[in-house]
Amino acid sequence: MPVITNIEDLRILAQKRVPRMFYDYADSGSWTESTYRANSTDFEKIKFRQRVAVNMDNRTLRTTMAGQEVFMPVAIAPTGLTGMQHADGEILAAKAAEKFGIPFTLSTMSICSIEDIAAHTKAPFWFQLYVMRDRDFIRRLIERAKAAKCSALVLTLDLQVLGQRHKDLKNGLSAPPKLTIANILNMMTKPRWCLGMLGTPRRSFGNIVGHASSVSDMSSLSSWTAQQFDPTLSWDDVEWIKKQWGGKLIIKGILDEEDARLAAQSGADALIVSNHGGRQLDGAQSSIAALPGIVDAVGDKIEVHFDGGIRSGQDVIKALALGAKGTYIGRAFLYGLGAMGEAGVTKCLEIIHKELDLTMAFCGVTDVKKVDKKILLPGTF
Ligand SMILES: Cc1cc2nc3c(=O)[nH]c(=O)nc-3n(C[C@H](O)[C@H](O)[C@H](O)COP(=O)(O)O)c2cc1C
Repeated sequence: MPVITNIEDLRILAQKRVPRMFYDYADSGSWTESTYRANSTDFEKIKFRQRVAVNMDNRTLRTTMAGQEVFMPVAIAPTGLTGMQHADGEILAAKAAEKFGIPFTLSTMSICSIEDIAAHTKAPFWFQLYVMRDRDFIRRLIERAKAAKCSALVLTLDLQVLGQRHKDLKNGLSAPPKLTIANILNMMTKPRWCLGMLGTPRRSFGNIVGHASSVSDMSSLSSWTAQQFDPTLSWDDVEWIKKQWGGKLIIKGILDEEDARLAAQSGADALIVSNHGGRQLDGAQSSIAALPGIVDAVGDKIEVHFDGGIRSGQDVIKALALGAKGTYIGRAFLYGLGAMGEAGVTKCLEIIHKELDLTMAFCGVTDVKKVDKKILLPGTF
């Protein structure tokens, strides 16, 4: 067993253990992947100011995100097909998040269902909603999230149409995977993954199959998804969803200052600066480059959260310094999950926590709520 000291170690192990189709699904962006790459490389340009002889004792990373107390300002981002990175993946990640004291967000396109997560955890989790044309299905999904006592609804606005990821098309991505010769040969090299999958009944889209009309098998699901994501989605729909839900609302997928102002006007509790991890509009700005302008545009009218490209606690603190009140990790936790299941997600959270804590200390700050631009080197952001 290799010694795991950083997120890259988890990625390498996940690549060994997860079937190619699902590893590629996680580790890819749309088209040329330029935005996917920029999400990470733009972080590297930002430099810290090292401070010395400052009392660095008694540090705390505790704060709140959308009114909820968190052990550190990092939540698990919603990711589709997580139960294909590892058997029962969403349940395992939710358990790791609960033990760590941070929010877990369940995707609409998850393998484990809303009810599965509620049955295996005690802490309230967050539910991410994609808006589909079938408004009755959306209404029922919202009711199910309420019944499961979800404490926030994360409404994703940047996937009215789907960005093209070449590898998914070439690999013939599906859940469960089709038993082609190429897939069988590849899966034979991933015995742990296969064993896990044989031991769970959860192998298709748990929130959808059996809940949406005319979806009973996977072949009709893929065409249903393609037809169902609603290209007409507007701010009026956001208002309708806000009314249906009636609880904390977080708007995900904001990359433009004008849209950020509209999100603030919508009365949502928070917005997430996000380009969907570089999976939608290739050629769009990196999330970290978009963050300062959005923070300036909305002021304190709405809480600003951030995701995209976070692979370390140092990336988290850079986003906080530029005005985010909380952050989300997507691939970082997926690599942990694919590498080692629940223990891998916990490892990912421990790594990020330690890097965040030590970096804050080096910059001479002891309370994460006090992190601001002053910890960054002028001219590098
Ligand atoms: C494999 C994968 C699946 C995703 N599925 C969803 C999803 O179902 N809903 C959603 O709102 N965002 C989804 N996202 C976007 C993430 O929520 C998040 O915005 C992104 O992963 C952040 O970038 P990072 O992976 O660099 O941390 C997905 C991302 C990945 C990598």
